[in-house]
Amino acid sequence: MQLLGGISREKFLKEYWQKKPLLIRQAFSDYQSPVSPEELGGLACEEEVESRIIQEKGGEQAWQLRHGPFIESDFTSLPETHWTLLVQSVDHHVPELACLLDKFDFIPTWRIDDLMISFAQAQGSVGPHIDNYDVFLLQVQGERHWYINENDYADDDFIKDSELRILKEFESTQDWLLEPGDMLYLPPGVAHHGVAVDDCLTFSIGFRAPTRNELLIAYTEKNDDAIADAFYSDPDLSLQTSPGEIKKEHIDIVQALMRLSNVDKDEFSSWFGCFITEKTNELEHENKEFGEHEFWEQYKHFGKLTRNGYIRLSYIGNNESISLFVAGEEFVLSDSYLSLARYLCENHSVDYNRVIQYCDETAASELLFKLYNNNYLFFDE
Ligand code: SIN
Ligand code: CO
Repeated sequence: MQLLGGISREKFLKEYWQKKPLLIRQAFSDYQSPVSPEELGGLACEEEVESRIIQEKGGEQAWQLRHGPFIESDFTSLPETHWTLLVQSVDHHVPELACLLDKFDFIPTWRIDDLMISFAQAQGSVGPHIDNYDVFLLQVQGERHWYINENDYADDDFIKDSELRILKEFESTQDWLLEPGDMLYLPPGVAHHGVAVDDCLTFSIGFRAPTRNELLIAYTEKNDDAIADAFYSDPDLSLQTSPGEIKKEHIDIVQALMRLSNVDKDEFSSWFGCFITEKTNELEHENKEFGEHEFWEQYKHFGKLTRNGYIRLSYIGNNESISLFVAGEEFVLSDSYLSLARYLCENHSVDYNRVIQYCDETAASELLFKLYNNNYLFFDE
């Protein structure tokens, strides 16, 4: 047995792992599955086992997905072709399969997720799709034709409103017929489609790649109790000429408090601006529905607008633009709005004369009209 087909583990990691597909002929020659298709069906009937049946044709709709546990009649009522049974984490239930995972010892064990087994009748497949994790697809019984395409796909390329993320159109750039013992390695993001030629068993050795959000949420939950929480503090606060500004050095303190390094500074600042100005209560005020022209007539006549007390405003100055944050919403404006943004942040009473002093009506019009329409500003009659 030559799991990596004669190439060294070092070479595999350097050239293929997370980079490009690798077909390994006879990686596991003469391998006998410790689980028969019938036993797999039996496992899929058990409560604690996660299983699915995907039926391309002959179901209530194309690519019908059903979750287990199943009962015997679910199998006996299936057509002759075009369906697949998938059973997750079979290694948890069959010790020989857990031992098979030990053969993949050139990858840290914590990266291994589980061994999924699929059984398909002729033409059975789960549809062309993309996985976010690395996988070794070991052909164990029967033949499967694998088609792949390494191009990038966009959200629109997938069938809508389906739990299964299947590509609408798929043209392969490479394909291979896998026989028992052959294995295909695919890195994350490579579109693939495996079609059973005849009754076939395929083992998927899948890897785990936790996302940034999963890690952050889990870490925070765990450490909420273990590590004392800490408040934002600024004993070195110096006097600001513009109190409405969220200064870069204050964003740095937030980032340090959150123990985040290496964040995209612009994204982080933008998130913080929205977060810190989010409203904590709903508005009680309903403005009159003026058109933009009528609104300015009224404003000129009345002379001032009042900011709803619930609304927080702050801004961040960038090189050639400013981000004005209003109630959790970001308005990216040219830096010619700086004086107006400062004025709006510093005053709950917004004088018409001051506004047009900072900005001509056309430039300010859209912004103020939007703030009025969102009930952030109103005429206090
Ligand atoms: C299968 O075994 O049928 C599908 C496995 C996969 O495409 O990830
Ligand atoms: Co897949």
